[in-house]
Amino acid sequence: MTSPVRTERHGDVLVIISDSPPVNALGAAVRDGLEAGVKEGIADASITAMVLRCDGRTFFAGADITEFGKPPKGASLHEVIDMIDASPKPVVAAIHGTALGGGCETALACHYRVAVPSAVIGTPEVKLGLLPGAGGTQRLPRLIGMRAALPMLAIGDPVPAKKAADLGLIDRLVGEDSLEADAIAFAREVAAKRPIPRIRDKDAKADPEAVAEFRKANARKFRGFDAPEANIRCAEAATELPFDEGMAFERTEFMKLMMGVQSAAQRHIFFAERQAAKIDDVPADTKLRTVNRVGVIGAGTMGGGISMNFLSAGIPVTIVEMNQEALDRGTGVMRKNYEASAAKGRIKPDAPEKAMGLLTPTLDFDALKDCDLIIEAVYENMDVKKEIFARLDKIAKPGAILASNTSYLDVNEIAAATSRPEDVLGMHFFSPANVMKLLEVVRGDKTAKDVLATVMALAKKIRKVAVVAGVCHGFIGNRMLAPRQQEANKLLMEGATPQQIDKVHVDFGMPMGPFQMSDLAGVDIGWHRDPNRIETIRDALCAEGRWGQKKQAGFYDYDEKRNPTPSPRVAEIIEEFRQKSNLPKREITDEEIVARTLYTMVNEGALILEEGKAQRASDIDVVWIYGYGWPVYRGGPMFWAQTEGLKKVVAALEKYGFKVAESLKAAAESGGQLK
Ligand code: 3HC
Repeated sequence: MTSPVRTERHGDVLVIISDSPPVNALGAAVRDGLEAGVKEGIADASITAMVLRCDGRTFFAGADITEFGKPPKGASLHEVIDMIDASPKPVVAAIHGTALGGGCETALACHYRVAVPSAVIGTPEVKLGLLPGAGGTQRLPRLIGMRAALPMLAIGDPVPAKKAADLGLIDRLVGEDSLEADAIAFAREVAAKRPIPRIRDKDAKADPEAVAEFRKANARKFRGFDAPEANIRCAEAATELPFDEGMAFERTEFMKLMMGVQSAAQRHIFFAERQAAKIDDVPADTKLRTVNRVGVIGAGTMGGGISMNFLSAGIPVTIVEMNQEALDRGTGVMRKNYEASAAKGRIKPDAPEKAMGLLTPTLDFDALKDCDLIIEAVYENMDVKKEIFARLDKIAKPGAILASNTSYLDVNEIAAATSRPEDVLGMHFFSPANVMKLLEVVRGDKTAKDVLATVMALAKKIRKVAVVAGVCHGFIGNRMLAPRQQEANKLLMEGATPQQIDKVHVDFGMPMGPFQMSDLAGVDIGWHRDPNRIETIRDALCAEGRWGQKKQAGFYDYDEKRNPTPSPRVAEIIEEFRQKSNLPKREITDEEIVARTLYTMVNEGALILEEGKAQRASDIDVVWIYGYGWPVYRGGPMFWAQTEGLKKVVAALEKYGFKVAESLKAAAESGGQLK
């Protein structure tokens, strides 16, 4: 087999080039090739310096994650890195694209680093539940100091080349189109300089104040995760221990994380997210439809948020409303949201004007005739939606994609209101639609493959994580929410309190529990249609105006700052309902709450898979991570069920009287996986 690494001589400089698509991950063949290349440079007396660069779209994007957990092969990354570091001739890393993880660590073992301005450099291992285990935690603090190293290590966002140069991580920015030539010239400049600068020889200064500030500022973000703290401890070790001892400490911490469930879960999600973009029966090379202009019907919270996604990606939007007041209100909110982001420095100061400049607000429905994709975002009512789609059918241009943002309704029925059901599908955004990453793409029975492929590609362009769902009530996410909500309500009647149930969910790692979520979304959603009915605890809350946070009263009482406290009135209402239903009050354990509100979701997920409404179990995990804040370190409900043990899940479901999905039972019995 030919090596993915080759060498080229440029006079006295040896250029070592890796060409291992797609991202030059540091797999066994690449590592062996690098080792051979560096050996060649060291052995050849006519060579005075080396340049290390990559072909293709990027410098090394990291260790090869697919090798994790498998028996080691070839030279280890440590061996390669040690060899580069110890080279008696200077080695220059020439960086383009993304130098990430092991790629960044390889660059740090080089004696100099040059980069093109568009490159980014970082150690995102923490996002995989890991730490940079090839010296990154020991070299970064030595090179750029604790204050700059901590966020790179423990948050993991890569830094652009310009910032990296300011930090001292990059020695020189070179021409965007002349990386190799500039790197060779740089190598000649430094070839004779002695001593060769090695980061391992530097001292890392302790900075307890920076560490304490960093821990405090990120406490919420890090809640429940093991890896951020391990990264911080290793960085501290860099300031306390000699280099080799620090490396040994890093190794131990790395192995602990690598063997743990959290990293397995986070790596699962890394691949699950990429897998979700693939549709089993739609070839990757399907010709896409062109989408140059998007239409949005409805300028409410959803319509506005949806529009912002496209505007931010530079795609013009025509937004239609029924009356001027609603249109002005909607566009005003969008502008305010953009301005708030600019004020916080999240987007460039001129971004709000740019984005809003791409927006055409109108009351004229017919203006949608120029749009290539039209998304309906009006309220959930089948008759209204059918009427809109029938109208769209008359005016939309041939080949335009017609989408509904419905969260529950039958997309096939909506499609049947048109003469072109093959152009119709669901695009279920999650609120706030400009923030939440998830997009459920609902495939109708007749949706054309190119329509589906176009929307999946567009989702990536607007930086959403898209998952294909089949037509069923609530699709994937909301369908699984239903048993959770239902059981949570029943548990109240049987003796649990809202705060007890919510605490179990928050301790589990969810951003909030079912009742906190109700209060935030509005307890009154759906209630106004029949305000005289008082059949449930929720109806009773609504009848008393306890509509949630917006009224400072829902399942909890709230102060002006929206801090919740348990509500004595809610306790009374629950008690009244329980007595009316003649239900005895009993002690509810946390274990029962987990079984009835979380295992039931897994059960529903298994049914979704059986019915073919999700392509694969990992898609369900992606939905829950990106749409509902399921803790990524638990890998999504279906992955989590495997880590709990399917036998245990099935036994608990049976204990509490649930009908267990056949596929779940079968997987539990055979010791297999939910697929
Ligand atoms: N190992 C193995 N495969 C990888 C990989 C890696 N490190 N990084 C990306 N890939 C694969 C992806 O799975 C995908 O495969 P597919 O086409 O079969 O689905 C393919 O490469 C292309 O990746 P993306 O779709 O993500 O391409 P993008 O252009 O959108 O993004 C990227 C490129 C920014 C490099 C992104 O892939 C990425 O963030 N990769 C992971 C980087 C990372 O986490 N590195 C650290 C690894 S751990 C490590 O280095 C440990 C060390 O410290 C010891």
